[in-house]
Amino acid sequence: MLGISGSLRKASYNAAALRTAQALAPAGMTIEIFDLAPLPLYNEDVKAIGFPPVVQELRAKIKAADALLFACPEYNYSMSGVLKNAIDWASRPPDQPFDDKPVAMLGASPSALGTGRAQYHLRQSCVFLNMHVLNKPEVMIAAAHTKFDDKGTLTDEPTRGFIRDLLTNLAAWTRRIQRH
Ligand SMILES: Cc1cc2nc3c(=O)[nH]c(=O)nc-3n(C[C@H](O)[C@H](O)[C@H](O)COP(=O)(O)O)c2cc1C
Repeated sequence: MLGISGSLRKASYNAAALRTAQALAPAGMTIEIFDLAPLPLYNEDVKAIGFPPVVQELRAKIKAADALLFACPEYNYSMSGVLKNAIDWASRPPDQPFDDKPVAMLGASPSALGTGRAQYHLRQSCVFLNMHVLNKPEVMIAAAHTKFDDKGTLTDEPTRGFIRDLLTNLAAWTRRIQRH
């Protein structure tokens, strides 16, 4: 699986949630995390010359992954520009790598709604790119500042359980899609 966090900050709750998923992955599943920090901003003039190497790497890793796991911060009721920029780069033809890909998502925010609005925007982009998004569980980590410790460890046991369920369901969902 390939994990992609839409936040670049060191103490990011979303990056921490992704690392938690990495640690909680069930037997047979490994999650590699792709760092979006080196990606340039999307520019069609640059694309016309050729995908920058880091974008080529991202596209190749998406293509090769059995499934994707997005960690989706909420910025102004939508996904972060960092995440949207990465999706925009990776999505350009030819051979767009998201096509037919099983996907799950989670998100963390200090607010009470825990990235729900952003995740629904992300789902919309996933639909357009023909990804197959796992419906449930929806992992929306509200009041994130109360659920992670200073070291970025997710200490809230019910939330750890939701992430475990998400990964178990993603593994089954991936097998189901690969069979067809
Ligand atoms: C530009 C900006 C817009 C934000 N808008 C929202 C928002 O609409 N809803 C929300 O719950 N949190 C919002 N926040 C707060 C973020 O959820 C919070 O900064 C969170 O920690 C970001 O994720 P991270 O910890 O992974 O970096 C916003 C933060 C920024 C910087």
